[in-house]
Amino acid sequence: MSTLSIAGYGDQLTVNGIRIGDLSTADHETIEKEKGGRNYDPLKDVVISHVRNSCTLVCRKPDPEKILAFIEEDLLDGLSCYSAVNQGQLNQTIVDAVVHHLSKEKLPTVPRSIRHKYMAAFLLASTALTEMDRVIPKVTGVEASELMFKLARRWGYQVKGIPQGEAIIVGARGNFHGRSMTAVSLSDDPEAREGFGPFVPGIELVPFNDIVALETLFKQKSECIAAYLVEPIQGEAGVIVPDEDYWPKVAKLCKEYNILLALDEVQTGFGRTGAHFAHQLYGIKPDIMGCGKAAGGGILPVSFVAGRDEVIGVLTPGSEGSTFGGYPLASVVSVFSIKVLVEDKLAENAMLRGSQLLEHFNNLKSEFPDKIKEVRGKGLLTAFEMFDDPKLDGHKVSLGLLKQNVYAKETHHSTLRIAPSLTINAVQIDQIAGAIQKVIGNL
Ligand SMILES: Cc1ncc(COP(=O)(O)O)c(C=O)c1O
Repeated sequence: MSTLSIAGYGDQLTVNGIRIGDLSTADHETIEKEKGGRNYDPLKDVVISHVRNSCTLVCRKPDPEKILAFIEEDLLDGLSCYSAVNQGQLNQTIVDAVVHHLSKEKLPTVPRSIRHKYMAAFLLASTALTEMDRVIPKVTGVEASELMFKLARRWGYQVKGIPQGEAIIVGARGNFHGRSMTAVSLSDDPEAREGFGPFVPGIELVPFNDIVALETLFKQKSECIAAYLVEPIQGEAGVIVPDEDYWPKVAKLCKEYNILLALDEVQTGFGRTGAHFAHQLYGIKPDIMGCGKAAGGGILPVSFVAGRDEVIGVLTPGSEGSTFGGYPLASVVSVFSIKVLVEDKLAENAMLRGSQLLEHFNNLKSEFPDKIKEVRGKGLLTAFEMFDDPKLDGHKVSLGLLKQNVYAKETHHSTLRIAPSLTINAVQIDQIAGAIQKVIGNL
């Protein structure tokens, strides 16, 4: 092995003589391009250094005077790591719990093959929050959707009586459930699928928010359909909010045909849409649901599947598992992420600040009727879509916002999603809206 020396913390962190604090934004880009995979194309000339407060990132940019390796500026975070940081960056309650746990309680990691005392707390908190019978911890969001897929198939064979090997899982067009082979098999995004086949069989897609299409498929194939696995509001597709009566009708159809409703609440859960879980906005309850992202309070990756006894109960020892799913530190982090969600009333703030933001968007739509086509959102999962015109480029808007010290990222060509931490205040919402107004005005 070649020699390797690692020393220091933060900017002093030095790997083989290269000190992180000496790197320009261009140096970071060069190292990532030379040593990393090519599966991301981050914004140019900006590198996040640390956080200022719950909604503000400190970033490094090139020095216009070209004297220093970089300058630092504050960036108001309009994305909150795709809803992983609903509780706000470095939430004090969660940080205190982590520090206390590691320094005083002293139990970072043991496997699930031996009991640890924090699992009980995690299960009590997560079943109470979700109002579900049972919960299985995992690590990333995609593992939650993957596990829902497996649970639905096994339930289909063992409980519903689907002939072996013939189970069908129905998904929605435009979905996003992550990047595993199963999630990619469910996807209809050519970029996500290209070169990764053959895909997992037993999948059918219907248009999202089309109850007739769903009923037609259920009528044709209900004997073999185990579940409709779907996001309550499609996040990555550009915040696609279905008609108000869609979910009650879907829930009724699923019951009628004995098909599981498996909701992917990885992005919509944990207060994001103005309720603890988006399905609660529609007065329905899924049979199983997947949670992730903010389940770990922006501190650790934590995900889980919550569900009815009859469904989760199909798993037996040896049929599922995860080294880090529900390990002691993750259990503690998740318990305190739930505590903050509930006690700090994050869903209520999401509703309040989301209405404020949507009002701004609607005003912008009136001010720029030739530029903004549609405004969408629930709580603080919001987006505006521009008309299909090369001039109205979402990427250009995110670059413009960056100049205004606001971080937001386009989804697809012409849609901008704004989904800040649920701790955001009224002044910061006005700041985001003001920046968008300037940028759109200049397009
Ligand atoms: C609805 C949904 N499901 C699953 C995932 C995958 O989560 P992760 O990237 O943590 O695997 C995402 C990520 O954006 C998501 O939005």
